[in-house]
Amino acid sequence: MSSYKIAVIPGDGIGKEVIPEGIRVLEAAAASAGVKLSFTHFDWSCETYHQTGRMMPVDGLEQLRGFDAIFLGAVGFPGVPDHLSLWGLLLPIRRAFNQYVNLRPVRLFEGLQSPLANKKPGDIDFYVVRENVEGEYSAIGGIQYEGTDEEVVLQQSVFTRKGTDRILRYAFELAQSRDKKHLSSATKSNGLFHSMPYWDKRFADMAEDYPEVKTDQFHIDIFTANLVRMPEYYDVIVGSNLFGDILSDLGPACTGTIAIAPSANINPEKEFPSMFEPVHGSAPDIAGQNIANPLGTVWAAAMMMQHLGNQTMHDQIMAAMEAVIREGKALTRDMGGTASTQELGQALVDQIASG
Ligand code: NAI
Ligand code: MG
Repeated sequence: MSSYKIAVIPGDGIGKEVIPEGIRVLEAAAASAGVKLSFTHFDWSCETYHQTGRMMPVDGLEQLRGFDAIFLGAVGFPGVPDHLSLWGLLLPIRRAFNQYVNLRPVRLFEGLQSPLANKKPGDIDFYVVRENVEGEYSAIGGIQYEGTDEEVVLQQSVFTRKGTDRILRYAFELAQSRDKKHLSSATKSNGLFHSMPYWDKRFADMAEDYPEVKTDQFHIDIFTANLVRMPEYYDVIVGSNLFGDILSDLGPACTGTIAIAPSANINPEKEFPSMFEPVHGSAPDIAGQNIANPLGTVWAAAMMMQHLGNQTMHDQIMAAMEAVIREGKALTRDMGGTASTQELGQALVDQIASG
């Protein structure tokens, strides 16, 4: 029997509500696939920060290192500045475990209404491949003459050859494996003088290794407009940390709700555990009301099983999700229904048991 050890960090806000549903669905799929999953919970969060002054213990990363994967809810809550909570928990995990790929699939499901006119299931079906450990998200920089009229703020971006090439290669490989074989790069080489012309050059050079892949590139401003105007055009999108972050909220918003979108933080070499989470945050505005949509978390759970090599469990969870959305029972408020978080989780469990 295959068995996997999963570290669970529900985190803040609705993270604590959606993660239990993800676990319930995983357990149902594991029971039917004959897989053993063991879950170890870590209560690291903004509450921990209030009690201890840290988002996670000093040896937190060491505690996670031995797990097969990390399953995370959301990090950040009013009362702790976002840059402290994110840099205290989420970002150190991504970096220490070299999870340099952030993979975010975007799909319009049958049964959900896109806010874009005349889009039907199948029209929107692409991946955002986001660079996840360098780029614009850096703590390098500083403030000089703070609090005076002379204040100067510097924020550095970091683009390394190794970091740029490995994310581009991952995206080219993914595009090569898909029917459309089409890769679009997000750039802004008309404004960012050094980093983006470099990115574009590495992209063009690597394209020569993949003659079957059709490539193009768009400045991030027109890229956002295009994703709304013609999402069906895109197949695989690759972007730096910042551009990938923006496009991967916009993409799912075009499919009806950002709450179904998953995010896989992948260390492709499997030297370290990878981390799976919904794209959304802790949603303080609806936390504690039991109306959060758990589907982003459930889809992330499916991606986790696929990464661990269990395609059967992945397919089973995805099929249950598709069926429940198509039938329209037990949809949460953001998808036009009235179900609670648990009712939607239970509908998925029932679907897996009946399938
Ligand atoms: P958010 O994603 O938490 O919420 C944005 C909007 O979407 C809210 O109106 C919320 O109610 C709604 N929403 C989000 N998830 C939902 C779900 N599952 N079901 C139904 N509705 C849902 O983004 P926001 O407000 O910018 O950030 C809130 C906190 O979360 C901040 O502290 C932020 O730093 C943190 N955050 C953490 C992330 C992570 O852990 N990876 C990602 C994004 C934000
Ligand atoms: Mg984001």
